[in-house]
Amino acid sequence: MPGLVPKSDFIALKGITSLVAGGEPPLLERHRRAFEEYAQDKARGYAGYWKHWAVNEEVRALVAELLNLQSEDISLIGSASEGISQVISSIDWQQGDNAVTTAIEYASGVFAFSGLRKFGVEARTVEPRRWQIGAEQLVAACDERTRLVYVSQVSYRTGQLIDIAKLSAELGTRGIPLLNDVSHALGVTPVDGRHADFTVCACYKWLLGTQTGLFAWNKKRRPTFEPKGIGWRSAIVDEATGEIVPRQDANRAQVGNSNHLDVYLLRESLQYLRKIGIDRIRQHVLRLGDTLIEGLRGLGLEIMTPESRDGRAGNICFTHPEPKQLVDLAAAENILFWGDDGRIRISIHLFNDEDDIETLIEFLTRNRAQLC
Ligand SMILES: Cc1ncc(COP(=O)(O)O)c(C=O)c1O
Repeated sequence: MPGLVPKSDFIALKGITSLVAGGEPPLLERHRRAFEEYAQDKARGYAGYWKHWAVNEEVRALVAELLNLQSEDISLIGSASEGISQVISSIDWQQGDNAVTTAIEYASGVFAFSGLRKFGVEARTVEPRRWQIGAEQLVAACDERTRLVYVSQVSYRTGQLIDIAKLSAELGTRGIPLLNDVSHALGVTPVDGRHADFTVCACYKWLLGTQTGLFAWNKKRRPTFEPKGIGWRSAIVDEATGEIVPRQDANRAQVGNSNHLDVYLLRESLQYLRKIGIDRIRQHVLRLGDTLIEGLRGLGLEIMTPESRDGRAGNICFTHPEPKQLVDLAAAENILFWGDDGRIRISIHLFNDEDDIETLIEFLTRNRAQLC
């Protein structure tokens, strides 16, 4: 089965078995055009400056469409971590409050939560059971003092796809804000921004962009949001009072400029993904995932990712105590995958095909001795 798209659409993908979309996938050939356009605009002074903001608006609209939200709900910020910090800063924490997350989140969330201790706030971390976290476990960890739940829709660590609709419904009835990190979901599986109060995403992974971030504020569900970080972009001067007040839309989270070059690149990526369609991408990665899981099972590996299709997206992980050597060995053969945090992560995206999976399984079989 071929990939959904030609490998030649990507820069420097020829001859590489690239299974690193959850880390650093290659850029698109069409990004070269986007860089040129940005450079031309940058040379045009004021006119070019306003063009940058026009592109910014186009990208907000494309992201809004992906998330089932409106453009004004979207902000193009520096990183996913910045969005997490802005949300945490917006809460008026009181001693005895708590915030809930999982024990297998990426450092962005873990570090941000660690800062809450000094306010007398408890960071509750839900442990996985056989690598799985159920929405009901997260709900059970909440009580009347819970002020935030932060979770990744798809885990960077295990590849599990959490049932966000279910979690969202449960938390919604209790009025507890949900911050959904979709860094490993957006671009490969459907994400609905209406199922969270706030959504953040890193753009350099499944979205095929570069190091910049997305933020969404679902104002309909959570009308109040005042981040403590304020800058020229997040606020305006109220004409009537002369006071500096937060913008009305999600840009109140964006303290300074957008990373305009990254935004030009992201526009290309989003248009590219839109042309293929998230549902087709999802079906493709799930099919290849079935083949991969079968191969990993055949090697007797401990697979951390749910085998059922509704429990995963593009990441498939298996435990490995010291993965670095295997990662390096594979890289020497131009087979790229991620390995840290006690596991190997294989990421499948739209440019991967059956040959990639076969090449990987053949490599793992040949290096069986290195698998534990
Ligand atoms: C789930 C998750 N969130 C956030 C990040 C970091 O994104 P950023 O560098 O945009 O803050 C990562 C990086 O791997 C991640 O896996």
